[in-house]
Amino acid sequence: MPLNVIVGLQWGDEGKGKITDLLSKNSDYVIRYQGGNNSGHSIHINNRHFVLHLIPSGIIYSHVNCIIGPGVVIDPKSLIQEIKNLESFGINTDKIYLSNRAHVIMPYHRLLDKYQEESLGKMSIGTTHRGIGPAYADKIGRVGIRIVDLMNIDLFRIKLKKNIDFKNQIITKIYKGDPIFFESIYEEYIEYAKIISHRIIDAVYEIHNAFHKRKKILFEGAQAMLLDINYGTYPYVTTSSCSTGGVCTGAGVPPSFLKNFIGIAKAYTTRVGNGPFPTEIKGDESSLIREKGNEYGTTTNRPRRCGWLDLVSLKYSCMINGINHLIITKLDVLSTLKVIKVCIEYRYNGKIIKYFPANIENNNIEVVYIEFYGWEKEIYHIRNYENLPENCKKYLKFIENYLNIRILLISVGPERTQNIIKNKSFF
Ligand code: GDP
Ligand code: IMO
Ligand code: MG
Repeated sequence: MPLNVIVGLQWGDEGKGKITDLLSKNSDYVIRYQGGNNSGHSIHINNRHFVLHLIPSGIIYSHVNCIIGPGVVIDPKSLIQEIKNLESFGINTDKIYLSNRAHVIMPYHRLLDKYQEESLGKMSIGTTHRGIGPAYADKIGRVGIRIVDLMNIDLFRIKLKKNIDFKNQIITKIYKGDPIFFESIYEEYIEYAKIISHRIIDAVYEIHNAFHKRKKILFEGAQAMLLDINYGTYPYVTTSSCSTGGVCTGAGVPPSFLKNFIGIAKAYTTRVGNGPFPTEIKGDESSLIREKGNEYGTTTNRPRRCGWLDLVSLKYSCMINGINHLIITKLDVLSTLKVIKVCIEYRYNGKIIKYFPANIENNNIEVVYIEFYGWEKEIYHIRNYENLPENCKKYLKFIENYLNIRILLISVGPERTQNIIKNKSFF
């Protein structure tokens, strides 16, 4: 059974949660392979609104096994709260499993995230302050604490002690902050370990066994391509491999297992946090899009920066991710605009280019747009492609032709049912 991967192609919040939920109906497993509770994935079903941060967006369907994979960083406090929230909505959480290889976010990671951001001043990344960067830094630095370590109290004690001694040097000497204390953190995490222990599995074997039993497996990307640690707008990125390549390293599956790479893009672009954004709109149209699209961060509630669709960066994202199916979301948000712009090229150091430079900054890129007439009527109720206004179809055709990838689905509202499905074989 071919495995499916969902990734965001822009700077996050493309609607991955909504689409993962839709595809979960026909999935046995939904697996997160990177990131942590920096994500915010919204799902709307009949006036009920679910927000997920760490738990895969397949959880609303009770038949789906939801795995938080080896490449994820887990904040147990936040995870336990998220499980409680879901249970208060009547959602069955029995099938949430955690990889024993995933790393644990500790209170000092959150603290260091905050200190690092403050020390960067004007160059701050605008992180979610969830401790994601410092947790991944410890992983790469080979001093991280894994979920499996929480199951061995003596080993956990030694590792935690070493980490706290070292982190206290940084906290007190570099950042001039107050030290943190071993005992209280140790006690707190031992309690968390008891609460989550029955969910811990060897996810690598579970996923391989499922594959050989021909189960339907969906990998849910968090964040998005332009926030990828290797290929995003570094250093204004997150600290994991958000691209489809991250599935192999973050879930322990070989590339040969993967078949369908589903890329999700909004019909325009948003970014939350700092960093370059060539097609950002500075004027009134930005707030028009923000209000109609409810562009406020799902995790931090910050207003998202809004801009036009950028086909140069989108092509770059599709290329690196091997996207073979495209989903366009939030098309309804553009419905009131008279003119819609699309970036087709950049002017970079005086030359026209169609590629995404490694050192992209707002002051070294000028954007070349083409303009489309808007359709100026609401489309949120439309379910059939043929019924879309002609100008809307022209816009979609242009995107398909530029990227040379067919559109699978067009999302025209936040509700589970607000979709125009072009390729029914997936749904
Ligand atoms: P994710 O991080 O990629 O899962 O996206 P978020 O959930 O953070 O942000 C997407 C927001 O847009 C959420 O509030 C969704 O409910 C909403 N949304 C998703 N698809 C559509 C759509 O087609 N139209 C509109 N208006 N809202 C949408
Ligand atoms: P979903 O999964 C949008 C951004 C932060 C910041 C940068 C680094 O909902 O699409 P971090 O806390 O990860 O170290 O912050 O990445 N960021 C996101 N932006 N959607 C997300 O997730 C994001 N997760 C992180 O705003 O600019
Ligand atoms: Mg989000």
